[in-house]
Amino acid sequence: MRITAVVNQKGGVGKTATTINLGGALAFLGQAVALVDVDPQGNLTGALKTVTTEGQPTLAAALLGQWRGPAAALAVEHSKPGAGQLDVIPHTGEMFTISRDLDKVHAREGRLARVLTSLEGEYDHILIDCPPALDIMTDNALVAADGVVIPVQAEDSSLRALELLLAQVDAIEDSGLRQTPLVIHGLVVSMLERGAGGVARSNIGRSVVTAFEGLPLPMLGSVPRGTPVTEAWRYATSVQEHAPESEHAEIYRALAKVLVAA
Ligand SMILES: Nc1ncnc2c1ncn2[C@@H]1O[C@H](COP(=O)(O)OP(=O)(O)O)[C@@H](O)[C@H]1O
Ligand SMILES: [Mg+2]
Repeated sequence: MRITAVVNQKGGVGKTATTINLGGALAFLGQAVALVDVDPQGNLTGALKTVTTEGQPTLAAALLGQWRGPAAALAVEHSKPGAGQLDVIPHTGEMFTISRDLDKVHAREGRLARVLTSLEGEYDHILIDCPPALDIMTDNALVAADGVVIPVQAEDSSLRALELLLAQVDAIEDSGLRQTPLVIHGLVVSMLERGAGGVARSNIGRSVVTAFEGLPLPMLGSVPRGTPVTEAWRYATSVQEHAPESEHAEIYRALAKVLVAA
């Protein structure tokens, strides 16, 4: 079982879209996948219209130690694309205050890791959709994950955000909370405004992409801004299910293959 955090403390850079569509692509390739929504705003859960059943235990209760069963009970089936499986461990109302509530417990950065460990054998891949903040839930994701995928936009503000994120990854590495080094799978340029030749349309966009390519981090690929992504979101699914023949679906399958091979 591979746990990947889709992380960037900047909002609106494509974390949730990447989590859903990378997850959909992994499932399409035959992998059993669970998406975990740790953003207090619950955008992934809202986008996929995931609802918990009456009396189902919640991620928040598991994180706070108020519920201590196997985490598979937290999952809701979304769909079975291809030969695989796409489940969601959704946001519920208690997640709105999770950061404050975790302040009151001990070993607070390791809570998500403990919960997800009990999914061993249930899934091939767990993708964690992180909040738009370098907060306790992002720290939890960085402790729980084996690797990270970092969605970025071809804008100057994304370069600064990336610096802060990499500093936080180093801080977690130095904290002693992890047993093994965190693998940075790489960057995914999201919502690329494409011009001629498939590269960024604006000079600034091109210069930021060049700056990303100059970093000692793998560049996993670019996802152009496009209707398959917005339409799939509208229909509460991934582009693999909504528009499997689209260029976007193909790009996400290529990203998924990188994770499978990692
Ligand atoms: N490739 C894309 N094409 C069109 N819209 C996109 C694309 N990627 C993301 N979006 C949209 O941009 C918005 C912000 O993306 P989102 O994934 O929610 O960012 P984050 O999770 O980092 O805040 C969402 O409405 C999403 O549907
Ligand atoms: Mg999001």
